[in-house]
Amino acid sequence: MTTGGWYDTFAPFYDFGTLGDCFYRKARKSAISELALRPGATVFDVFCGTGTNFSLIRKQIGKDGDIVGIDGSDGMLARARARGERLGLADTALSLVRADLASRDGIERLRAAIRDVRPGHFLFTLGLTCLSNWRTFLGEIMDIAPDGARLSIMDVYSRRLTLGARLINWVGAADCRRPVWEELVRRGEGVAWREFRPFKVLDVSVFVASGTKAAGTR
Ligand SMILES: C[S@@+](CC[C@H](N)C(=O)[O-])C[C@H]1O[C@@H](n2cnc3c(N)ncnc32)[C@H](O)[C@@H]1O
Repeated sequence: MTTGGWYDTFAPFYDFGTLGDCFYRKARKSAISELALRPGATVFDVFCGTGTNFSLIRKQIGKDGDIVGIDGSDGMLARARARGERLGLADTALSLVRADLASRDGIERLRAAIRDVRPGHFLFTLGLTCLSNWRTFLGEIMDIAPDGARLSIMDVYSRRLTLGARLINWVGAADCRRPVWEELVRRGEGVAWREFRPFKVLDVSVFVASGTKAAGTR
């Protein structure tokens, strides 16, 4: 099954299955706070899923801000759209883009949107570890992100393929051994990395990495 297919199947249960986001809430708040959002800002929520980040983002960007959610699963995007309506996000304040970010076509669609909108903030929560092309993907996003843009990543990590890591990988169609922050560390400015341990029993960490696209870097 493709990742889109897996998440299409999972979409009706996602918010329920993540138990009100209890494991990720603290790290998610930290990741969003690291974006240093201001009223009126535009945020690209890459791998937006059902839109779990929307209300936290919205609180900081206010009614004049914009969210662009990108995801490869129609099922997840349908729920993101419904959440946007519940939150009272007008069509102009929330745009959703369907793109398979494992494919050339999907990456080009995202890059075209970045060129058009020139957002100052990029959020990646629990999506990069799903991509086998995570390193080149983040590099390509950083290539065209505007200078000074803030990037923040929240994801899972385990050095070893423990039983817990296998479970998280299976549930998320991911590989949590991927050090998906590395490209940000290599090319970003003022990068901060913080570890959370909500899954102590499973021996899997959640981390938040954030930094700024430095001027003139490619
Ligand atoms: C674990 S969910 C995370 C959703 C949300 N960001 C959150 O924090 O709750 C992973 C998301 O990544 C999306 N995804 C996985 N692989 C993808 C790909 N190749 N292209 C686009 N989206 C993908 C899935 O559809 C899913 O919505």
